[in-house]
Amino acid sequence: MEQTFVMIKPDGVQRGLVGEIISRFEKKGFYLKGLKMVSVERSFAEKHYADLSAKPFFAGLVEYIISGPVVAMVWAGKNVVVTGRKIIGATNPADSAPGTIRGDLAIEIGRNVIHGSDSIESASKEIALWFSEGVAEWQSNLHPWIYE
Ligand code: PPS
Repeated sequence: MEQTFVMIKPDGVQRGLVGEIISRFEKKGFYLKGLKMVSVERSFAEKHYADLSAKPFFAGLVEYIISGPVVAMVWAGKNVVVTGRKIIGATNPADSAPGTIRGDLAIEIGRNVIHGSDSIESASKEIALWFSEGVAEWQSNLHPWIYE
């Protein structure tokens, strides 16, 4: 089953949105394969966002991610990378549709509550980085009620 990496950013944790966000992925039918709360070091955040190191917002983005604990997760299910990004909404909450996490719960791009892998390749890299210890080997027994 396809997997994606999702991180609830420090603002999502501080604002008490962890349950709400997990609930949206669960209700869709995706299942949770990895979950942990961590405070990451600057060097780790820089590694996670390495592709963006030349961007003008890079330093601010790294400061934001290390400003408090984050909740790192691995979610599994059919098309979870693309569909997960739809559930999350556009990067800038000003452009995110109502009904999406960012559309409902955030206002500014620099406080956009959540990260989700943008491709299967990024998901695999990010899961390896954040869950080097591995994730749970299980498959939800609700499958026959979610997939035909
Ligand atoms: S880009 O420029 O197209 O590569 O960036 P984008 O794909 O839209 O976003 C990549 C991540 O950078 C974050 N981002 C920002 N953070 C703070 N301030 C500004 N202005 C900003 N612009 C983009 C954006 O939230 C993405 O982070 P993740 O964690 O992947 O959502």
